[in-house]
Amino acid sequence: MSAIFQIHNLAKLNWSTDANALNKYLFSQISAEIAEPTRIALIGASGQGKSTLLRIMALLDTPDEGDLLVNGKSFQHIPARQWRMTVTYVAQQAVMLPGSIEDNLRMVSKLHGQPYDVSLATELLEQLGLDYLDLGKVAEDCSGGEKQRISLIRSLLLRPEILLLDEITASLDINSTQKVEALLLNWHKQQGTTFIWVTHDLEQARRISNRTWMMDKGGLQEYSSDAFFNEPVANLAKRFVGSTEGSLH
Ligand SMILES: Nc1ncnc2c1ncn2[C@@H]1O[C@H](COP(=O)(O)OP(=O)(O)OP(=O)(O)O)[C@@H](O)[C@H]1O
Ligand SMILES: [Mg+2]
Repeated sequence: MSAIFQIHNLAKLNWSTDANALNKYLFSQISAEIAEPTRIALIGASGQGKSTLLRIMALLDTPDEGDLLVNGKSFQHIPARQWRMTVTYVAQQAVMLPGSIEDNLRMVSKLHGQPYDVSLATELLEQLGLDYLDLGKVAEDCSGGEKQRISLIRSLLLRPEILLLDEITASLDINSTQKVEALLLNWHKQQGTTFIWVTHDLEQARRISNRTWMMDKGGLQEYSSDAFFNEPVANLAKRFVGSTEGSLH
């Protein structure tokens, strides 16, 4: 059986044209393997390339070196649209498509030629505290936090194998954040979906993950979240958790 997802020696060149730029690469020699459904927290200081890595994993950006494989198949042999049904990116700044909220929820299924699951959409809206919304409302008129959750539901309706979540609760209040966390933990349990969740909130990282990927100095280290947060396995982890006092900002 192939691993669900593999990253082999992935690199992204630094786009700075400054010949004196300190590093040729934004990141390089990144390798990781997801062998079974996993909940991964992706952490690291601003500008390390967390969003870029997720965007590359969803083929929204291109790697300069290395390979990505889903269920043993390289991205070079899978059409991007098909890939994105398996590996789906949810951006921090949710972009609404023109039309109503319902149009937005229906459109993605339509684009991917899948039937629209109304009862699942209704259930997810309710679980995320959005059942008060008039689905005929113009999606663009929704608040940032509403758009964020609509965009998450839009992605869940595709039932991807891997969800790439980029600071998806950054514009949400605590109550809504808890609902998103509960929904995703339950979704992982029920559907076996793997998620990689970028967060600057270490408490959130601890709550939602069983593995932690840390981006630092152009590389990626992987830890068990238990070890990383409770009994730091490396001095690096100890320093990282110690110095940030719960927040990476
Ligand atoms: N080839 C490249 N592709 C993307 N970003 C690049 C590249 N080369 C250099 N950069 C710079 O590297 C940084 C990468 O940004 P990115 O959004 O991926 O970081 P991040 O870890 O998600 O940060 P944040 O925590 O603030 O969201 C940016 O400052 C960007 O300008
Ligand atoms: Mg980012």
